Amino acid sequence: MHMYDLITKKKHGAALTDEEIAFMIEGYVKGEIPDYQMSAMLMAIWFSGMTDRETAVLTQVMARSGDQIDLSAIAGKTVDKHSTGGVGDKTTLIACPIVAACGGKIAKMSGRGLGHTGGTVDKLAAIPGYRTELTREEFFHTVETCGISLIGQSGNLAPADKKLYALRDVTATVDSIPLIASSIMSKKLAAGASAILLDVKTGSGAFMKTQEDAIRLAQTMVAIGEAAGRRTVALITDMDVPLGCGIGNSIEVRESAAVLRGEGPADLREVSLALAANMLFLIGKGTPAACRAMAERAIADGSALATLCRMVRAQGGDARVLTGEANFEAAPFSREVCAPRAGFVTRMDAEAIGEVSVVLGAGRETKESVIDPAAGLILHRKYGDAVQAGEPLVTLCTSRQETLAEAAQRYGAAITIGETRPAPRPLIFARVT
Ligand code: URA
Repeated sequence: MHMYDLITKKKHGAALTDEEIAFMIEGYVKGEIPDYQMSAMLMAIWFSGMTDRETAVLTQVMARSGDQIDLSAIAGKTVDKHSTGGVGDKTTLIACPIVAACGGKIAKMSGRGLGHTGGTVDKLAAIPGYRTELTREEFFHTVETCGISLIGQSGNLAPADKKLYALRDVTATVDSIPLIASSIMSKKLAAGASAILLDVKTGSGAFMKTQEDAIRLAQTMVAIGEAAGRRTVALITDMDVPLGCGIGNSIEVRESAAVLRGEGPADLREVSLALAANMLFLIGKGTPAACRAMAERAIADGSALATLCRMVRAQGGDARVLTGEANFEAAPFSREVCAPRAGFVTRMDAEAIGEVSVVLGAGRETKESVIDPAAGLILHRKYGDAVQAGEPLVTLCTSRQETLAEAAQRYGAAITIGETRPAPRPLIFARVT
């Protein structure tokens, strides 16, 4: 078999066989197929697409390219959750403790921030003392004793994806549905949970800018999960507007804890409860309505917050920052951006706002950048809110004073103040099964 022939075949729009897909991925991981040939193949896939079968086989081969976590030793049903990435998306820190408090088992590996979108591991790392790397024994023990453990991704989980993603990033081939679906699902399958809830974001701050594309991606991923014997459901949720009012690592942990205390922004609470209820449904905890009621109770009776605190303590973290007994270290510099005129917020460009958080230090400009845990934004007005001239729209926080002017200018450009209140946007567009 020759890679040249496979590239030619895909260029002309034909489907690759199972053997051809295995040959190309295994050869690429071993270094036998060079980057320039794989780049040509990725571009051919970008233009020609893949059949459902090709995408499923590609995912399986990528999932088998490294460690496959066997969670069968954990008593009870394991359920995983994955977001395609958003701005202010801290729902893992809320939905997963809720599910664990209701008896589900969460043994979850989370990623670092990617571009303008935040990553759960970076948020957890903002908790003083919290260890995002555990040995296998510690990981399993934490799940057994707390019902939940959230850690960073093992270095050898789906190495084919790691190599392919780095290449896609520099060859303009990230935004392809078969390539995104296989990238995400290979990691989910290798991570071992018996059920998977996907949160597919759509809108200005998401990879999928339109609902149609988000639904197609969700359908592809759900089909892959189900074919692999994992119960899989996807929610299509809004990412045209950042979720909640906090963006940045310690700021988002603080806001998540507020939601678990029964406070916090309504949009964040609603999306988190919907995700938690669907995760509980996937592991057979009852009807959708019963699962929703169970999730709400776990917030109201404090058991979800207690579960998160137990996990944080078990992983070496200071849980007092979650209960309000201690505060995160505040950023030394801050600046408000105020409304230039009275009116209503009619547009928030979530991607541009995510980029502001990177400028302030909350995300990485390069792979080597060091995250500033205290950096970020506190939104005072969101889409649809009324504002008077001179009232603050946002507070920008950073340890690097020199970033404030650029961040303020960019934030001003990411917001539109109009004369009439815009129509409300749904938070959840569809459920894909
Ligand atoms: N997240 C991933 O893990 N992979 C992609 O391709 C896109 C988003």
